[in-house]
Amino acid sequence: MEYGFDIQRYPESGNKSLRPWSAADEYLMMHWMEANPKHSLGKVATYHDRFGYLTVGLSAHSPKAFTFLHSQGESIMRNATANHVLGNVSVMSILEESNHPIGYVLMRMPKSLDLFELYLNHIQRNSGEDVIVMVGFMTKHFSSQMLKIAALFFEEVEQSRAWKKSRVLTLRKKKIYTSELRTAFEFGGLEINQYLGVFSAGHIDYATQFLLGHLHLQKGEKKVMDLASGNGIIAKYIRAHYPDVELHLVDDSHLAIASSKLNVRDGNTYFHCSHHLGNFESDTLDCIITNPPFHFEYEIDISVPLRLFKEASQCLSQEGRLIIVANQHLNYRTHLERLFHDVGVIQSNKKFIIYECRNKKGELNPF
Ligand SMILES: C[S@@+](CC[C@H](N)C(=O)[O-])C[C@H]1O[C@@H](n2cnc3c(N)ncnc32)[C@H](O)[C@@H]1O
Repeated sequence: MEYGFDIQRYPESGNKSLRPWSAADEYLMMHWMEANPKHSLGKVATYHDRFGYLTVGLSAHSPKAFTFLHSQGESIMRNATANHVLGNVSVMSILEESNHPIGYVLMRMPKSLDLFELYLNHIQRNSGEDVIVMVGFMTKHFSSQMLKIAALFFEEVEQSRAWKKSRVLTLRKKKIYTSELRTAFEFGGLEINQYLGVFSAGHIDYATQFLLGHLHLQKGEKKVMDLASGNGIIAKYIRAHYPDVELHLVDDSHLAIASSKLNVRDGNTYFHCSHHLGNFESDTLDCIITNPPFHFEYEIDISVPLRLFKEASQCLSQEGRLIIVANQHLNYRTHLERLFHDVGVIQSNKKFIIYECRNKKGELNPF
């Protein structure tokens, strides 16, 4: 297949073995070309196209890319710009609705099947009667649950033969079906709401629970950040115990930020959908608290938390603290000691460790 575009990962990863597309993306494009769909079907849309392979590949058909991450939208736009097709593609958040009915969808299957369900709900609301949905995935990631969820929304669910260890599901004949987009549960007397596909569905992550059991702000800590905030549980806990602080929540996921808005409603709280801290001034925050990401779908990429730690050190005031909960096996200490003079441990157990970093080293560039 002649693809003809150059696609790069954004943000770049320290792990050079990670690729910007897979055989499942290529197989989807092959299906698209074979199907040779008619424009009368309606708009072409992509879902879960992490770096832009599908969207840029379809640029001659003016696709809409529905994105769940801020960095994903940025990556698609960067790749469209680099390939001179920016004017042909539009990037929207999955929380936005399409202004034209969608006729054809190319989707990468997300690891979270809750997110798959949320996408199918979105397609259900935004598509024409005859919409055709093609979903690509690597065979090793197949689960029969994918077929069950697809069958809730479509009468015909057809699975392709395998090609380079990938497959494509083709969904046709839309049913009239919608499901709940959010779930709610209780934790320590607090009600937590979240959209499907947000980290740690139905319970609070055990590392976060461990962190909350040992989390205390110090006198004078007035400007506090929940970094990689997910459903906002850390910020919600801080708000419940320290009602006067100024709170900033930062997360790359549109659905996470929307969920945290349901959970932390008070004033003096600021929500930032972003994958970096470049918009925060240096030396301004008193305390940054995080259960940082290191899993991205099926990838593990340690360069993401390391970059966030570096940016956090720059945003902290001279006396500021960075508090991190992590799995013991990740061993962030060596990296943190390049950024801070004091790296202490608030508490640890067999699985988790809570670091407290203070006394930053300044403008070093350790990574
Ligand atoms: C381990 S979860 C923690 C969520 C929440 N704080 C909790 O404890 O339940 C990590 C979060 O990081 C977010 N994330 C991933 N990459 C990010 C980045 N570059 N910047 C900010 N958030 C990011 C993910 O969307 C996810 O919500």
